[in-house]
Amino acid sequence: MSHHTVQDRIESLRKELEEHNYRYYVLAEPVISDYEFDKMLEELNALEKQHPEFFSENSPTQRVGGTVTKEFATVKHRYPMLSLGNTYSDEEILEFDERVRSGLGTDSAEYVCELKYDGVAISLRYVKGELVQAVTRGDGVQGDDVTANVRTIKTIPLKLKQGNYPDEFEIRGEIFMPRAVFDAINKEKEEAGEPLLANPRNSAAGTLKMQDSAVVASRKLDAYMYFLLGENLPFKTHFESLQAAKSWGFKVPEHAKPVQNVDGIRKYIEHWNTERFKLGFDIDGVVLKLNNYDQQKALGFTAKSPRWAIAYKFKAEQVSTILNEITYQVGRTGAITPVANLKPVLLAGTTVKRASLHNADIIEKLDVREGDTVYVEKGGEIIPKIVGVDLSKRHNHSHPHRYIDKCPECGTELVRREGEAAHYCPNDSGCPPQIKGKLEHFVGRRAMNIDSLGEETIAQLFDAGLIHNIADIFTLNEKREQLLQLDRMAEKSVNKLLEGIELSKKVPYERVLFAIGIRHVGETTAKKIAGAFHNIDALMNATREQLLEVPEVGEILADSILDWFSVDEHREMIAFLRKQGLQFELSEEQLSAKSDKLAGKTFVVSGVFTRSRDEIKNLIEINGGKNTGSVSGKTSYLVAGDSMGPEKRAKAEKLGVPIITEAELLKLIE
Ligand code: IVH
Repeated sequence: MSHHTVQDRIESLRKELEEHNYRYYVLAEPVISDYEFDKMLEELNALEKQHPEFFSENSPTQRVGGTVTKEFATVKHRYPMLSLGNTYSDEEILEFDERVRSGLGTDSAEYVCELKYDGVAISLRYVKGELVQAVTRGDGVQGDDVTANVRTIKTIPLKLKQGNYPDEFEIRGEIFMPRAVFDAINKEKEEAGEPLLANPRNSAAGTLKMQDSAVVASRKLDAYMYFLLGENLPFKTHFESLQAAKSWGFKVPEHAKPVQNVDGIRKYIEHWNTERFKLGFDIDGVVLKLNNYDQQKALGFTAKSPRWAIAYKFKAEQVSTILNEITYQVGRTGAITPVANLKPVLLAGTTVKRASLHNADIIEKLDVREGDTVYVEKGGEIIPKIVGVDLSKRHNHSHPHRYIDKCPECGTELVRREGEAAHYCPNDSGCPPQIKGKLEHFVGRRAMNIDSLGEETIAQLFDAGLIHNIADIFTLNEKREQLLQLDRMAEKSVNKLLEGIELSKKVPYERVLFAIGIRHVGETTAKKIAGAFHNIDALMNATREQLLEVPEVGEILADSILDWFSVDEHREMIAFLRKQGLQFELSEEQLSAKSDKLAGKTFVVSGVFTRSRDEIKNLIEINGGKNTGSVSGKTSYLVAGDSMGPEKRAKAEKLGVPIITEAELLKLIE
């Protein structure tokens, strides 16, 4: 193909793919098969690889992500991102309408009712029909540039369709995580024994700030755009602007509805107050906007919000039902959670049978008793909560609830640590849910990664008396016969299980350190500790002072490590695991990366680099250097990355501290 034809082909593939993307994601009316789509995308990908001169950030190939943003740049909003006034009642809606009409001096005003999406506000900037920047709300004056992540959201057009759009404009809307995506992620997390995401809104916010846009792409965020901004927009009404934005390829509020008076508003609110649970995403109210642009302009803004729009927030849905029984759960850490077992009741679209009562203080404060009729509410969180008691329905013979003082699983006396609301079972090596929790952590993906030993198998082996602790996992190969007698444990699964265990013996030292479950030792700290103490003996014999010298090890962590190794059983377990062949020291390879080439030198690392700042600092440390935060006369080198603060550079120049790049640092340790 000639150069010219290649460019034409690339252009036409991009246009076609963007159109199919729109039909699939925005309209949900695909006209070609996924296979055909993938073929076209593959062709485009190949052409772009062969001809990097035609690269475009807004090519459909870029939607899969792959950009890593270390630090999001701060961007000042061209138009501040205001919020909306909130209302909660019919009267407040009436007052709003009266304010609007008296401000305008008219008898009637037309409003557009929209859903109030419960997500993260975003401002998109388009120039000549192409997405150039996406910025979060931040404090309303300035926000974070999250463009690379936003490019992965399929319902946000990278290039607009033909239309009468202005050369430059901004459009604002809400990015959210659909319920189904949220549920799927949590299911995965539950299986992996990881902490669950609290609610779709926080998850959307968290996802948008992730460093790796490929991960963002996998999280399938969605967006509605509801507010167009620009100079001299060619529209008379807000509703018209939504229709236009729709024709340019945006996903706009599909349930937006113009109404002529408060009655229309009421009907809209009533309808969505119940229908909202059938949507595939969360909304927390409705938004009312004066439709006419001239009227909007006439009313203007207060310091915080427009006078021409307002939000109506739904009340959290509440029902009453009978509390049959209060039971207790013991978590992996031994924490006790009281649970209200309810007479099943329909709430916010799902049947609720249980609600959390959090801790003893809450039960006492609410004075909830078994047999009471209680009010249950569901906010944005997954687990509903009890918010009060209907005292008029309380039985005469009811008596205050007595909180348990012994562990319901193992009978051990519970303790309550100073300053903590929860009760704990201190029997961490003998209480079944705590043991199972530790075992699950040990085999987890980021720990020993024994995927043939999942939650169910652990429970099965524990119940059969085959494993009681981590060490027992490595005795299973001597218990083949017993394993074969268990349910669902044929020759093949037993082999797979034992192979997985055998393979885990190769897992590097720092992950073993994480896996053994010393309180407060997370993945990152485990790495730091392994970098400072190259084998388990060095760590076991470390003094408090030595531990505190390790970067990121504070007093709580140091004491936790000392406590853990002071327990004889733990030392015996380490000795046993070591005999089994687990890694308890850094490998030759890990050690050979080390040197003392930077010994005695002090570094300040600042700015953005090709590798993470932690990696750079780590390189300096394993080669004997020291990191500090600010430039002084004692600094040997300032390692400067992109967008480093100008003060640091000025200070280094003034003090004559050499400023080096990442590549120059690597030369020093080569
Ligand atoms: S319009 C100047 N429309 O609610 C008016 N906002 O409490 C700009 N929101 O910051 C906002 N759905 O994040 C508008 N249909 C909708 C909305 C909506 C959700 C959010 C938005 C805003 C917040 C205000």
